[in-house]
Amino acid sequence: MKLTVIGCGYLGATHAACMAELGHEVLGMDSDIDKIHILNSGKAPFHERGLDDLLAKHTASGRLTFTASYAEAAAFADLHFIGVGTPQQPGKHAYDLTHLFAAVRQLAPRLTDAAVIAVKSTVPVGTAPRVRDLLHAHAPARDAVEVAWNPEFLRESFAVEDTLRPDRLVLGFDTAHSRAETMLRQCYSQIIDAGAPTIVTDWATAELAKSAANAFLATKISFINAIAEVCEASGADVGQLADILGHDVRIGRRGMRPGLGFGGGCLPKDLRGLLARAGELGAGQALALLGEVDTINNRRRQRMIDLAREQMGGDLSGKRITVWGAAFKPGTDDIRDSPALAVAQHLHELGATVTVTDPKALDNARKQHPELDYADDPVAAVQDTDLLLHLTEWPQYSRIDPARLAARAANTAVIDGRGTLNADAWRDAGWTFKALGRP
Ligand code: UGA
Repeated sequence: MKLTVIGCGYLGATHAACMAELGHEVLGMDSDIDKIHILNSGKAPFHERGLDDLLAKHTASGRLTFTASYAEAAAFADLHFIGVGTPQQPGKHAYDLTHLFAAVRQLAPRLTDAAVIAVKSTVPVGTAPRVRDLLHAHAPARDAVEVAWNPEFLRESFAVEDTLRPDRLVLGFDTAHSRAETMLRQCYSQIIDAGAPTIVTDWATAELAKSAANAFLATKISFINAIAEVCEASGADVGQLADILGHDVRIGRRGMRPGLGFGGGCLPKDLRGLLARAGELGAGQALALLGEVDTINNRRRQRMIDLAREQMGGDLSGKRITVWGAAFKPGTDDIRDSPALAVAQHLHELGATVTVTDPKALDNARKQHPELDYADDPVAAVQDTDLLLHLTEWPQYSRIDPARLAARAANTAVIDGRGTLNADAWRDAGWTFKALGRP
C-alpha cells in the first residue's frame, strides 16, 4: 500500500519506518525541515533502539522518504496517518490540539479524492467528530474522506518492537464496514495475521483507550510509590513488597517498579488530560483518584530532595551533588518531564553545584538546563562529590563498582532513587547508603 505519516516525532517516525518494514511505500511528512533532512539521510533525530537500522534500510530501498510538503503528502496516497504531538497546554491540564488541527487544516483542502485519515495522536475523547467536521468542510472530496481512530501504545525505547508486534490493535470507526476499516485491516494485515488482538470499536472508545491505559499505568506506579511511603515510615522494603504483590497474576509485577516515579511526554500528560476531559463531561468526580496519583508522583521528587538535604546536614549551599540520569527513563534521550532532571534543577536552586550524567540525553539536557554541570562519564562525574544520587534505570550504572567510586568522592554518600543498586555492596565499599522506600 501507499501511505503517509504526518508528524515525524517519536511516534510518527517510528510508525513510518515500521510501515515500510511491513512492505508499504511510505512518505513521512513533518514541517520541521531539519528533521526531514536527518530522516532522509537514514537516521533518527532522536535515540530509539532499532530505528536507525530501519530508517537506513528503507530510505535505501526507496520504500521510505520524508517531505515537508503537505501537497506532496496529499498527492502521494489515500491513507494518511496523523501522529503529531498533543502536549499539555501550558498552565492547564488539558491537551493542546494545535498541531493536530493545523495538520488537518493543511491536509483537508488538498484532498481531492476519497481518502482515509487515521489519527494516532492521543486526544481528549470527543475529538474525532471535530476532525471529521473540519475535513468534510474543507476537503474538496467532502464526505468521501473518512476518519479512523487508531491509538498507538508504543513505549519509547521499545517503539519499533511495540509497533511491529503490538499487544493489541485498536481501530475506531463511526460506521460499520467502512472503507477505512478495509484499508486499515489491509495495512496491518501482517500484524493481524500474526495474532495481535484486534479490537474494532467506535471513535469514543478508541480515543479513550489510550488515555485510560496510560492513566492505569500511572496509577499502578503511584500505588507502589504510595506503599513506598508507608515502607519508609515502617521500615519495610518496597522492592520485596512489589515482588510479593507481583506474584499474584491479578496484580502482576510489570509496570510496578517503585522509585522516583513517572515522567516523560505521555503518562503525566495523559493522566491530567483525562482528568480535565472527564471534568468537562461532568464525570470528574469518578476520576478524582487521578489527581492523587499525580500528587503521589510529585511527592517522590520532593522526598528525594528532602533526603538529599537531610544527608547534607540541612544545607545544600556550596555542596557538590552528582546526579546519575537525565532522560525520563532508560533507553531514550527524551528529557520531557524527567524526574531526575527535575530533582537536579531543584537542588541547583537550593544552592548545590549539580553535575549530571546520562548515556544518551546530555545534549538535550544541556540545551534545556544550561545552569547544571555535565559529565559524559558516570565515574568521572563522581569526582569530589559530596553526594551521589542514582536516579536512572540505565543498567550500566547499577553495575559500576562502588569501591572504584569511593576513592573519587569527597564524601561517600549515595541515595538510590530507582532501587537498582546493591545496598550491601555499596555499604561494604564504605558508602552511606539510603534508598527510596527501603530500610
Ligand atoms: C507510555 C506507555 O507505557 C505506553 O504504553 C504509551 O504508548 C506511551 O506512554 C505513550 O503514551 O505514547 P513511555 O512514556 O515511553 O510509554 O514510558 P513508560 O515505560 O510507560 O514509563 C513512563 C515513566 O514511568 C518513566 O518515567 C518510567 O521511569 C516510569 N516507570 C515505569 C516507573 O517509575 N515504574 C514502572 O514500573 C514503570
